[in-house]
Amino acid sequence: MNRIENIVKNGIEKIETEQRIDELTWFAGELAKINPAFGLEIGIYKGGTRYVWERICKELITIDISPDYHPTIAGDARDLETVDKLKRIVGDRKFDFVFLDGDHMYEGVYKEFLYYSQFVKDGGIIASHDIYIVQHDCEVLSKQVWECDTYQVLHAIVLCCALKLML
Ligand SMILES: C[S@@+](CC[C@H](N)C(=O)[O-])C[C@H]1O[C@@H](n2cnc3c(N)ncnc32)[C@H](O)[C@@H]1O
Repeated sequence: MNRIENIVKNGIEKIETEQRIDELTWFAGELAKINPAFGLEIGIYKGGTRYVWERICKELITIDISPDYHPTIAGDARDLETVDKLKRIVGDRKFDFVFLDGDHMYEGVYKEFLYYSQFVKDGGIIASHDIYIVQHDCEVLSKQVWECDTYQVLHAIVLCCALKLML
């Protein structure tokens, strides 16, 4: 078992997460390739994915609507007030990656992408979880992004809980 597989296994087994081990291992491997220094996660819950990012990325900022999960910013990711708080924290710095996994209804998914993609550096990674969950309308965002020329789709796993990578 390599280092990334080990980190993901621990993240999934020690900390509850809804991630699939194959998808998370693949994504964590892609992330490790860019040796990220600065990352953003929206949506922490019990911290399974945060555990993984913190071991791959030097510095992680987190946003969650619930203060119970001890985010860097406790706030609604759909609110511009939260975006302003993030701007005050990061200043001119840009993220190597963002992982969008907060509210899964259409407005939440759309706004997470709209508001937080601007914080990613050129060549960085934007990943969204659950993009193929039809009942949450996430496929609408997925379709928009797929058809958008701005982003190059690096890889996608067409499964129910898919992660999508964009450069
Ligand atoms: C699916 S869980 C995240 C799971 C975690 N990323 C993982 O894979 O282990 C969704 C999280 O998003 C948070 N959340 C839901 N709506 C939100 C919103 N509008 N803004 C910020 N966080 C939100 C919830 O409190 C919850 O912690």
